[in-house]
Amino acid sequence: MSTMKDQILRMFKEAKGEFLSGEGLSQSLQCSRTAIWKHIEELRVEGYQFEAVRRSGYRLVDVPDIPYPEEVTSGLDTRILGKVVHFFPTIDSTQHQAHALAKEGAPEGTVVIADEQVGGKGRLGRVWHSPPSTGIAMSLLLRPKLELHRCPQLTLLAAVALVEAIREETDLPVMIKWPNDILLNGKKICGILTELNAESDCINYLIIGMGINVNTPSFPEEIGQIATSLMLEKGEPVKRVKLIQNILGKLEYLYEQYLEEGFAPIKARWESHAISVGKRVTIRQLSGTMVGLALGIDDDGVLLVQKDDGKIEKVYSADIEIS
Ligand code: BTN
Repeated sequence: MSTMKDQILRMFKEAKGEFLSGEGLSQSLQCSRTAIWKHIEELRVEGYQFEAVRRSGYRLVDVPDIPYPEEVTSGLDTRILGKVVHFFPTIDSTQHQAHALAKEGAPEGTVVIADEQVGGKGRLGRVWHSPPSTGIAMSLLLRPKLELHRCPQLTLLAAVALVEAIREETDLPVMIKWPNDILLNGKKICGILTELNAESDCINYLIIGMGINVNTPSFPEEIGQIATSLMLEKGEPVKRVKLIQNILGKLEYLYEQYLEEGFAPIKARWESHAISVGKRVTIRQLSGTMVGLALGIDDDGVLLVQKDDGKIEKVYSADIEIS
């Protein structure tokens, strides 16, 4: 059910910058002109810009680059992903919220987006910083009917979608660092956290969390050594809403291809975007450190590393450094 405010916004968008009179709006929506004015003022507070001209009415002159559901869904070219969007100005973690929605039966493709996270989670129990109004913090709910061991393939699929969407929107040569960091000039721009709810050997649902440093203007000294943002690298701000729409479009395309054709086409794309493939890498695991040549990934998304003695090791979980 859309609210009256949503309906007013939709009418202004459909008018494509033309004036709509307060009188006309109040007749179409069967409410007073004062109510119309109140909703327009609320939209202004949210960042929508209206021009008001006496006797002509109002026209919408600009929309904010804030991932409100109305903005993300308008013009979104997908069948399922992003058809339902939940937006929070501030939240602890979009992952928590997505889990709660999944448990209540939210449909596949449901997206949770926050403008700021105050308890953002990274891989391996790390903290993920999502300061207000600069980045993308988004969690996506999927309900694939797949065996458990195929789950890492979906994280790799998400990395492919992110790299391809970021490249298209920014022209920046971002690359994937195994397992699922997206880097630019050796610094991290985006991280992916996949969480699973499963029973015996079957996936109940999967939450893919994505954090992107989009328009972060600067980083604290120690983080600035290892992280950067799209804006810092491009020299101009990048539109968050358009990037989200592109990511959802690419993800859906790859997800459908994956369900129909399996992992092979995704694997080929992943390897073509990976910086680590064909490079000497240092692998740091709890069990110790080793050096070798990264050969690629196998069908389970496991990294294959050839050691100097020629033996091939499978690496399931580690931090890698490219030598
Ligand atoms: C990593 O590189 O360690 C993964 C970072 C994942 C961060 C995203 S931001 C949206 C979602 N909500 C979270 O709390 N984490 C993920």
